Amino acid sequence: MKSFTMRGAKILATGSSVPDKSLNNNRISEIVQTSDEWIFNRTGIKERRLLTGINQSVIDLAVNASLKALNKISMNPREIDLIILATSSPNDLFGSASQVQSKINAQNAVAFDLTAACSGFVLGLVTAYQFLQTGSYSNVLVIGADVLSKWIDWSDRTTCILFGDAAGAIILQGCSKENNTILDFQLNTDGNYSNHLSIAYEEKLDPHPILNLYKGSFKNIAMNGKEVYKFAVSQVPLSILKCLNSLNISINDVDWLLLHQANERILKAVADKLSITKNKIISNLCKYGNTSAASIPLALDEALQDNKISHDDIIVISGFGAGLTWGTVVIKWKCF
Ligand code: UT7
Repeated sequence: MKSFTMRGAKILATGSSVPDKSLNNNRISEIVQTSDEWIFNRTGIKERRLLTGINQSVIDLAVNASLKALNKISMNPREIDLIILATSSPNDLFGSASQVQSKINAQNAVAFDLTAACSGFVLGLVTAYQFLQTGSYSNVLVIGADVLSKWIDWSDRTTCILFGDAAGAIILQGCSKENNTILDFQLNTDGNYSNHLSIAYEEKLDPHPILNLYKGSFKNIAMNGKEVYKFAVSQVPLSILKCLNSLNISINDVDWLLLHQANERILKAVADKLSITKNKIISNLCKYGNTSAASIPLALDEALQDNKISHDDIIVISGFGAGLTWGTVVIKWKCF
């Protein structure tokens, strides 16, 4: 019988993976009517990576990112108790996490998918934290991975310019409350506006003649960009403020703002609303575009590789996107 005293959680390692194939704005302008200037001015994106080639899936990226994180700390994958794969582009509707578990040889881990679009990593992190706090599990691998290139209408210039493929992974471990790095979180959903961003299921008009069953298939990404933009810029600062206020942390104490990498203008507008200076914004979307659930762990992994983040830095992480979902996690970074 486990004793459910609340414990802390620390981040042991991060890893990330992007496909080799790069698609820059000029190349996109040969496919749809757009320009490097328009895309860069409106989004801050210069290029994105695409997972090309046959039989390549989100699993390949998720496995690469996970192995990189495991290798950094020479951790045996058998020590992982739980794998949460945040993705909205699985290659099996029953879930892809179990295939990741098998491919990285994490035989002792229970594994499941979590679907929450661009907020998926934040929700995955918070879910992992619950299992670690209760002491149910000791080591958790959280992966954010998406290959939205497979769900884009490549003739729709309003969406095809935005997205890229990637995966990011972090390994969390239960620890004493004193070493806890996840200070607090704040999560939200508003399903009234789910139609602003979706990969909708569409039923065919001819039902089964005897059973009256309608079968169908999923459509491409559809987005009302303006509405999603307004939602992000209005709701994300509120979520961050709620979280910081509950912790009694002032804006001045924030060292890094790590938002879902959707659009450079969104990052700057949120920072402006909070009076956070631009040099505290972590941004890498010019190279990768919007990589959905992967964007936050990918940017975190890069910032760590660049030695930007120091011991005891306060990092405000916020995800937002389809659902609509949005949420914040405040981390105090610890170098172990
Ligand atoms: O992961 C979370 C999900 N997504 C987001 O966070 C996206 C949030 N939204 C956005 O980032 C922005 O709304 C976009 C980048 C998608 C669009 O920027 P915008 O400044 O809101 O542009 P708009 O939709 O108002 O379009 C302005 C004009 C329109 O032409 P008219 O009607 O003014 O003649 C569009 O047809 O730009 C046109 N347009 C383009 N022109 C060149 C739309 N897409 C393109 C394009 N190239 N790719």
